[in-house]
Amino acid sequence: MSGKRVTVVGQGYVGLPLAQAAARAGWTVRGLDITESLVNSLNSGSSHVDDLSDGDIREMLENGYRATTDPGIVADSDVVVICVPTPLGDAGAPDLGAVKGASRNVGDNLRPGTTVILESTTYPGTTDSIVRPILEEASGLVAGEDFTLAYSPERIDPGSRKYGIRNTPKLMGGIDDESTRAAVGFYGDFVDDPVPMHGTREAETAKLLENTFRHVNIALVNEMAKFCKELDIDIWEAIRGASTKPFGFMKFTPGPGVGGHCIPIDPNYLSYEVRDKLGYPFRFVELAQEINNSMPRYITDRVSELLNEHRKPLNGSEVLLLGVTYKANIADQRESPARPVAELLRARGATIRFHDPMVEQWSLDSGEISRESDLDSAVRSADAVVVLQAHETYDLTGLANVAKIMLDTRGKAPDPAARL
Ligand SMILES: NC(=O)c1ccc[n+]([C@@H]2O[C@H](COP(=O)([O-])OP(=O)(O)OC[C@H]3O[C@@H](n4cnc5c(N)ncnc54)[C@H](O)[C@@H]3O)[C@@H](O)[C@H]2O)c1
Repeated sequence: MSGKRVTVVGQGYVGLPLAQAAARAGWTVRGLDITESLVNSLNSGSSHVDDLSDGDIREMLENGYRATTDPGIVADSDVVVICVPTPLGDAGAPDLGAVKGASRNVGDNLRPGTTVILESTTYPGTTDSIVRPILEEASGLVAGEDFTLAYSPERIDPGSRKYGIRNTPKLMGGIDDESTRAAVGFYGDFVDDPVPMHGTREAETAKLLENTFRHVNIALVNEMAKFCKELDIDIWEAIRGASTKPFGFMKFTPGPGVGGHCIPIDPNYLSYEVRDKLGYPFRFVELAQEINNSMPRYITDRVSELLNEHRKPLNGSEVLLLGVTYKANIADQRESPARPVAELLRARGATIRFHDPMVEQWSLDSGEISRESDLDSAVRSADAVVVLQAHETYDLTGLANVAKIMLDTRGKAPDPAARL
């Protein structure tokens, strides 16, 4: 490799857009991943994430990008960024297996003068207490003397047309000033507003604060949606009114639960750490979890009530689910609340079908779900239609006119009575 060389470890939803931004900024980029089939498909010009097209991958390849499974590439890098998954393991505990494995591979090949940056979302202390010792032990080098080390959380907003890597301010905190400066030097090539932080733990905590903030506020409106329905108050109209306040309020909307890689998972990293280190609960997170996790059952109960009003039991009814991804207008199904909704409806005897312009195939633990391709006739024939994700291609006014029963969990249907 020549010029400025970066290796991005993990070529998923976070690592691949980062690789693209660095390649466009003139860096020679290597994408290191353990999944050989993914590496092969990237090298043949094929994308697997929503935000990048096959054309984007081909452009990256023309700019010198290559994917590889060979960690030896780290030895030839000025900067190494780790973007591997941080899921939950047994009993909801953080699973840092990928971060540790990636750190070991990086450490085995680390050369003096390299900057290592962790981007994976994780609990405070991971960069300094977990990644650093692994890197030092595997390389025989000393952080802060032989190499620089920083944490910089990803703030990607999948599917957003407004915010991308360049115009989203990016936090970066090093183990020392030199490390922070090195991280700012790297990201400053393609991020308009790099934000230096005083330390790795504060940068790690800032990311978890952002996600916990969303989690808690979504729980707030979900809980309000339930009692407003019983009090015959239109929660959507209340939210519309409150949102006109130009200060001190931020709009969140109810829904069937929380999904995606971040909100259902990341706050657990913080609550686990608080409980583990301090012995007491992070009550806001635990309450938010309880409320948000109750939403699929609430949706199922509402469908059952609506059918009951039409003298039909849920058992034996045909229920059509519209939109099964975790967010509108993207194909990502990770942690989508559509899954528990469908499982609960099926467990109560309903026949489930789904329609989603972004999803070709969808299966649950209890088996495959039939996909409907003719939206209009599927909506007409179903006993009840549940809008779980209001993709912009859905004309909810038109669909509400032909559906026998519609429950819109996203509040876009014209008739307030049809909304969650
Ligand atoms: N997806 C998002 O919107 C988002 C947003 C902000 C932060 N994050 C965080 O970023 C991190 C990565 O998430 P993602 O969505 O990109 O995950 P992903 O599952 O899309 O991609 C991760 C990639 O890492 C690879 N991988 C796993 N272990 C590896 C190892 N030891 N060495 C090399 N490659 C390895 C996998 O094969 C996969 O291709 C997580 O910590 C996540 O919480 C994600």
